[in-house]
Formats: sequence, structure tokens, C-alpha cells
Amino acid sequence: MQLRGKRILLGITGSIAAYKSASLTRLLFKEGAEVQVIMSTSALDFITPLTMATLSKHPVHHEFYDPKSGVWTNHVDLGLWADLFLIAPISANTLAKLANGICDNLMAATYLSARCPVMVAPAMDLDMYQHPSVRKNLETILSFGNLILDAEEGELASGLSGQGRMMEPENILEHVISHFSKSQAFKGKKVLLTSGPTQEALDPVRFISNHSSGKMGAALADAFAEEGAEVYLVLGLGAKKPKNPNIRIYPVRSAKDMHQAAAEIHPKMDISVFAAAVADYAPRNAAVEKIKKEGEGMTLDLVKNVDIALSLGKEKLPHQIHVGFALETENEEFHAKSKLEKKNFDLIVLNSMKDTGAGFQLDTNKVSLFFADGRSVVSEVLPKKQIAEMILDGIKNLPIKI
Ligand code: PMT
Repeated sequence: MQLRGKRILLGITGSIAAYKSASLTRLLFKEGAEVQVIMSTSALDFITPLTMATLSKHPVHHEFYDPKSGVWTNHVDLGLWADLFLIAPISANTLAKLANGICDNLMAATYLSARCPVMVAPAMDLDMYQHPSVRKNLETILSFGNLILDAEEGELASGLSGQGRMMEPENILEHVISHFSKSQAFKGKKVLLTSGPTQEALDPVRFISNHSSGKMGAALADAFAEEGAEVYLVLGLGAKKPKNPNIRIYPVRSAKDMHQAAAEIHPKMDISVFAAAVADYAPRNAAVEKIKKEGEGMTLDLVKNVDIALSLGKEKLPHQIHVGFALETENEEFHAKSKLEKKNFDLIVLNSMKDTGAGFQLDTNKVSLFFADGRSVVSEVLPKKQIAEMILDGIKNLPIKI
């Protein structure tokens, strides 16, 4: 009974996936939630209000008022009643209404009145799901702070196969439970994260880079998002993307691009975490044409890249928190502590290449956290997800209150 006492308003819109809303209601009910249902007019073609009323043990809401009795359904009351407004499935049509403030039915009016978190589970054909207008509308409701349960891949009603299936009810239930059980310590906080490698072009076909896979950064992004943060992830090319679709991703190639994107986002942030492995040097001039193989050797003319963490550290405001990483191969603690001070970090995460199970590419890491106030913590070798949670705990324990 992990949802005992929670009030969930379930919106159902016109999609073949509406049949899954029946089992979703049962699952929510079995976990102790009180469920009320709003159905759009098109949803009525896919599943009956009788089914939903029987399963939810509440009359189903559909219209602003009952034309026979004249009884008014108060969308404001419904919006205020709910602890969570879950729209599953949400069609492209309803999504467009929510993104644009169109309010011509009970569902959309309730959405505008709701003060609780809103979670949507899209269901549509694969090409619809990737259409720029749908992507833009998803992006818009994301910017309103709504949560998106990304559609799953598989066979679609059209007979095509791809991403567009509504998330399975069991998986939606898991997200709802985790939404209520997770600490929301970072709710409303804006977090900038840099992750992955940078690529410094030598010519149109070659570049200088490193082994960063982006796994550590992705784990951090997901951990922050799960605890309610608005995450802005500046991500090197080819690096692992986080699972949570609510994270805003800014793809970049070079250290210069990463700096530009991060510097633009940074002034509005509460927390910045620099997990990227940024190339310290770049070719002075990338050749316009492919460099030809001539002679027995080659000398590269490199210039120092901007140090993103150092330069943003100089602009850090008193309420802002900066967390850095250090990847070292010798004299690890000394180098980490000097970067902590030089780059104005509140906390630095050291990974040593000497530790088995730590560093690039792996699913695990082993880290030491050094705090600006002198405290330190050492981890075991743990999955990067757990290391991310440990770093978040470290941030929660900083003298600056988040
Ligand atoms: O991506 P994975 O494969 O999962 O691997 C994770 C990781 C090992 C890359 C990650 O845990 C990590 O340690 N990232 C930082 C690596 C690094 O570049 O460390 P550094 O000691 O060179 O840099 C110190 C700090 O300054 C880092 O926060 C770095 O992001 C930042 N920096 C460095 C250079 C630069 N030009 N700009 C920066 O912002």
C-alpha cells in the first residue's frame, strides 16, 4: 500500500492505449490511492465510463455539467483535490491544448486549475511522436514543470513498430510510487551539469578527445531529476543520455561550445556540477581540408582551452553551489584539493585511475568527496547510480542550504 492516502486524478484521452487505463486504475487502487477519472470525449470511443467508474469507485467526470440534471463539475475543485494529475494516455491533440492554454473541455480546464504535479504518458504513432510540433509541445509542458513518462518502443496500433506505445501500467505505477516516495530535496532547484568528452577538431575528419562515456553525468542528471530538480545537461557528442525525459539536453562538440552553452545557462542556476572531461588543449587552427599523410612525423600546434569550471567559478554568486570532479593518476588527494580551492568549488569528487572499478566507461566508480570546509568521505566501488546519490547527499550537507 505504497500510495495510501494519495489522491490521483487520472485523465484519459482518445487513444487505443485507453484500454490500459483500466489496469492502471486497478494498480493505483490496489496500492491504496484514491482515484478519480476524467475522460475526454474521444476517450469514450475507446473505453466506457462504466468500466472506469467501477474500477475507481467514483463517478467519471466528462463534461463541465450534466446536460440532464444541470449539475456542474467544478474543475477548480478537481484540480485542488488531486495530489497528482496523471494523464495516461495523452494524445497529440490534448498535449497541444495543454501546451497552448486551450481550454475547451473539462480535462484542459482542470489542467489549468491544478496546483499539484502533472504527469503525462504520451501514446501515438511513431512518426507523430517524433513530429516537430509534438516535440515542441512536450518541450513546452516540460518548461511548465510537468513530468513526461516517455513512450515505449514496440508494436503500434498502426501495425508499424517503434517508439509511441504508452508506458506499460506497471511501469507508470513505479514512476508514481517513486514520485511520492523520493525525497524532493531539489524541487524547484535549477541544476547545470556538464558531462561527456569534448572533441577538438584537427581537420574535418579527425579530433582530439578522451574516453569519457557520459555514464557518470547521466546518473547524476537522473538522480537530480528524480529529486525534483530542473536539470540542464550540457552534453559532449556521443555521451550517454540520461533516462529521464524531463532533462533538457544541450549537445555540444568542443570545449569552446561547452563553455558557451554552460555560460549562458549558469547565471540562473542554483547548482552547477562539472562532470565533463574537457580537453585542456585544442589545435590552434583546425585544417579546412583533410590533413594529408606526409613525412614520418607530425607536430601539432595546440592552444589552451578555456577552463569552464574555473571561469564560471569566478562568477559564482553567494547562493550558488559548484561541484567539480578531478580525475587523477598520481598524488590524487593533493591535486583534487588544489582544484577544489583554485576553481572555487564547494565540493570536489575525486576519481583515481589507480582504483579498480573507477573512472571512464565503467558502470561503477569509487570516489572521495572533499568539501571546502575540510570534511571528506570515501566510497566503496559502487554503481554510478549510487555514487550519484552519494554526491547529492554531499550537496544536501553543504553549509549553503539548498
Ligand atoms: O563519463 P564516464 O565514462 O562515466 O567517466 C566519468 C569521468 C571519469 C569522466 C568523471 O567522473 C570525471 O572525473 N570527470 C572530470 C574529468 C576531468 O576532466 O577532470 P580534471 O581533473 O581534468 O578537471 C577538473 C574539473 O574541471 C572537472 O570538474 C572538469 O569538468 C573541469 N574542467 C576541466 C578542464 C576544462 N577546460 N574545463 C573544465 O570545466
